[in-house]
Amino acid sequence: MSVSSAGAQQQTADIDERVAALLAQMTLAEKIGQMTQRNASFGNPVDYLGDRLRSGRLGSILNLADADVVNELQRIAVEESRLGIPLLVGRDVIHGFGTIMPLPIGQAASFNPDVARDGARVAAREAASAGINWTFAPMIDISRDPRWGRIAESYGEDPYLTGVMGAATIEGFQGDDLATPGTIAACAKHFAGYGAAEAGRDYSATYIPENELRNVHLRPFKAAADAGAATFMTSFSDVNGVPATANDFLLRKVLRDEWGYEGFVVSDWDSIRQLQTHGLTENDRESAFQAVTAGVHMEMEGDAYFNHLESLLTDGEIDIAAIDTAVRRILRLKFELGLFDNPYTDRAALPAIGNEDALAIAKRAALESVVMLQNRNAVLPLDAQQLKSVAVIGPLAHRPYEQLGTWVFDGDPTLSVTPLSAIQQFAGTDLTVRYVEAMRNSRSRVGPGFDEAVAAAAASDAALLFLGEESILSGEAHSRADIGLPGDQVELVRRIRETGKPVVAVILAGRPLTLANIIDEVDAILFAWHPGTMGGPAIADLLFGVASPSGKLPATFPRMVGQVPIYYAHGNTGKPPTAETATLIDDIEEGASQTSVGNVAYHLDAGFKPLFPFGYGLSYTEFRYDNIALSANGIEPGDRVVISADVTNAGEIAAEEVVQLYVRDLAGSITRPVRELKGFRRVGLAPGQTVRIEFELHTDDLAFYGRNMQLAAEPGSFHVWIGGSSEADLQASFRIDKSR
Ligand code: BGC
Repeated sequence: MSVSSAGAQQQTADIDERVAALLAQMTLAEKIGQMTQRNASFGNPVDYLGDRLRSGRLGSILNLADADVVNELQRIAVEESRLGIPLLVGRDVIHGFGTIMPLPIGQAASFNPDVARDGARVAAREAASAGINWTFAPMIDISRDPRWGRIAESYGEDPYLTGVMGAATIEGFQGDDLATPGTIAACAKHFAGYGAAEAGRDYSATYIPENELRNVHLRPFKAAADAGAATFMTSFSDVNGVPATANDFLLRKVLRDEWGYEGFVVSDWDSIRQLQTHGLTENDRESAFQAVTAGVHMEMEGDAYFNHLESLLTDGEIDIAAIDTAVRRILRLKFELGLFDNPYTDRAALPAIGNEDALAIAKRAALESVVMLQNRNAVLPLDAQQLKSVAVIGPLAHRPYEQLGTWVFDGDPTLSVTPLSAIQQFAGTDLTVRYVEAMRNSRSRVGPGFDEAVAAAAASDAALLFLGEESILSGEAHSRADIGLPGDQVELVRRIRETGKPVVAVILAGRPLTLANIIDEVDAILFAWHPGTMGGPAIADLLFGVASPSGKLPATFPRMVGQVPIYYAHGNTGKPPTAETATLIDDIEEGASQTSVGNVAYHLDAGFKPLFPFGYGLSYTEFRYDNIALSANGIEPGDRVVISADVTNAGEIAAEEVVQLYVRDLAGSITRPVRELKGFRRVGLAPGQTVRIEFELHTDDLAFYGRNMQLAAEPGSFHVWIGGSSEADLQASFRIDKSR
């Protein structure tokens, strides 16, 4: 055992001892108090929560971000309550606190766990300076439906990418030791299946077969548990008929028994009482019973536990062990956070919000998150020496708040540098910048601004359109049925197109959008998600070629909404489509027979391909992939195989590429996806440079829950691909043979 792990074990043993000693002194009322969390976001919480704290009947608050008030509440808890137990102070610190990083979906597009880790570290320090010691992040729900507003807050459609980014985020928030000032406890949410809401309508029911639940939706949560996420949050949704907040399969069988998770589980906002609204229970008492027996340890902003746990116990319906387990876990986190030794926030000891380091991290994150979807005739990068003027047009060019995206309770828009400001700064005096907002917001209709915008474009050498969705159009409860550009943006694009000037669309949005109706009207598209505080400078650097775009799509972009759900890791079906077999509606011949359109899995009016696939993203250079090789053609269970390929920067500028590894298991006891991401690496290459990239796969990396619901890699043939998107075509094969 290493000295440090011996030290950590000793620390755990000490904490366990302190927890046990404290628990032994607690009354039932005090224990139940620890299991409740209340909202502290209105008025003066010292007035309405003070007495509850003094009587030891409150374990946690949320939504207070003021170090002085938090310190006063902590003082009351510590000095004026019988046992002096400090508070957990929770807040949604989702993608930054004051300094805002790109949306999580944008961070996922970087395919760079350092982006997530560094961003979360900055967020933790800034949040800690406001008295917060617990964030409700990361959200690691798999989302394969861009109608769902919370896809913004997710890492996209892929379980592996989500697991890697989620784990890095947890490491960033929690650091190596939660007691270090500037670290905060993380919360993996929403356990589980929340992203599969029917029709992408937030909070709607989810129906996910167990194999799919385990192979897709639970995988990132396992990665989060392994990364040491201090807490988990249940989902609002009904999962296969049993709402997640009462789902003993998820909370007991999987999380507690199979994974041995030792952190605590918090409900979502009032989701225990909502068990009755779902139609699972008849009253709050039953709801409290169902949640506590399933394994929910703390109730967020509800009073079912507060009002009913005591009678459930005295009536013998629940055992004291259920309560003690919950309280033990909650207290353990308070000790781990060092709150018993120092409950107070010392703002001066933490870095200032929006400092230079934070802004540099936000800029790098934004730079790596932008995905270039199209670049006809190499219209980008713009040549600042050649151009005399550019028109900057659109509702999202200069909106400091709107570039931050959803879930920015504490985001400081005064720190934002907008694309317009950054372009103006870049242009200096040599390049004329004509700015026309044209639409007040993304939903506006044709107005006088359109003519002004056309005039500005006509007078300039290029038009830069800043389009998309403002922050309010994505996020919790902000789902859309039509995921095209809202308002009359498409009309604006058409009118600008008519000027004949090169048109570049920079799109800021919280979800993949359907862009088929503008794709032929613009020369280039940079998809920037909501890029955060430093979105402007990052976009300007990309537009003018200071850096090359390097983001890749973490979610498939459909052509039209009717294709949803459309994702790369789908099953093959018995009738997979090909370009030859899938006849499109306009190509059907008069009098054609039923079978002549191919009888394959596709839409007559959309084909079978998305507009842009998962993993896709262009660069200002070309990357070439050659010479794929395997360390072995056959391996046995428990072995490893190394897959390698050459990646060459075949262009003339230095750039970064996200090299991706995909696998297909050709035959399984249940059918396997046509491809699954199994590795990725961001590499920087000089012009002409070739590097050999190696990925190592253990057979455990190929394991899945098969027909018998056991996790195992099954013997058989596998295809592997290395390349720059999920459509990579450099392929090799190997086998897993049965052990001899
Ligand atoms: C959301 C959670 C969030 C909580 C607290 C809920 O409505 O679903 O993700 O952490 O509110 O703000």
